[in-house]
Amino acid sequence: MSAQLIDGKAIAAAVRADVRAGVEDWTQAGHAPPALRVVLVGDHPASASYVRAKIRAASEAGVDSETIHLPADISELDLLALIDELNTSPTVDGILVQLPLPDHIDDSKVIHALDPDKDVDGFHPENAGRLVIGEAGFVPCTPAGIIEMLERSGIETSGAHAVVIGRSNIVGKPMANLFLKRGTDATVTVCHSRTKNLAEIARQADILVAAIGRPHFVTADMVKPGAAVIDVGINRVEDASRERGYRLVGDVDFEAAKEIAGWITPVPGGVGPMTIAMLLKNTLDAARRRHEHTAVEA
Ligand code: GUN
Repeated sequence: MSAQLIDGKAIAAAVRADVRAGVEDWTQAGHAPPALRVVLVGDHPASASYVRAKIRAASEAGVDSETIHLPADISELDLLALIDELNTSPTVDGILVQLPLPDHIDDSKVIHALDPDKDVDGFHPENAGRLVIGEAGFVPCTPAGIIEMLERSGIETSGAHAVVIGRSNIVGKPMANLFLKRGTDATVTVCHSRTKNLAEIARQADILVAAIGRPHFVTADMVKPGAAVIDVGINRVEDASRERGYRLVGDVDFEAAKEIAGWITPVPGGVGPMTIAMLLKNTLDAARRRHEHTAVEA
């Protein structure tokens, strides 16, 4: 292996320790701990497992967290009423609605209903817009975690060619905008399912972010020697040798790419833990900002 491994678990632990210290300072100053409410609809196994991990990490950081678990057949109207309740609750700082929602509920309607100041996922259009124009707001946790990882690993972004594969609202688009931000200053190309010569473009990347949700999509020939390869994919592939019947693989053919790349993130233990760490950071920020707003209004 020639590439240096970017240990997301270790970096996330450092971010979480910073958040825990921040929460301690916050409560010692006489405030209630930041309060996060996670809304889980139905029993999608992967979603339930992500939510458990988020709640566990929040508790460890001193964040007051609670899952609101709703039946899969809850109506859109009832879910919107719950969001409204959480929006107006003076004791709730952050709200996260785990996606995807069941088919009869419009994800986008629910996201639009969130109070942007409690939207710790950064999915509300107001936060998405703020990111595009470089104003402070909540940034989606996965791309924010990737920037944090690059910074803490000493990987230069200024002037680097960052190629993002995938154009989702959760990862690809905010990732591209974060790379463009003043202070990060990368040159950005976004590739997607209709991109021509995708492999050729990927090969020009100093920083290659794979966020398409297809196992082993990025092969060694798509990696420029020395590049930083960031794998966002968490794909379940059948594996009869495992007790649970599957294993997790990324969007990158790790074994082959690690021989060419300069840095690479593993799956699991790469980007995943960072997403959770940044959620906690956003939740602490939400509590601080809400306090500032309340203080100004009072
Ligand atoms: N589903 C997959 N990733 C995410 C995420 O970051 N936040 C939420 N709320 N749902 C998700």
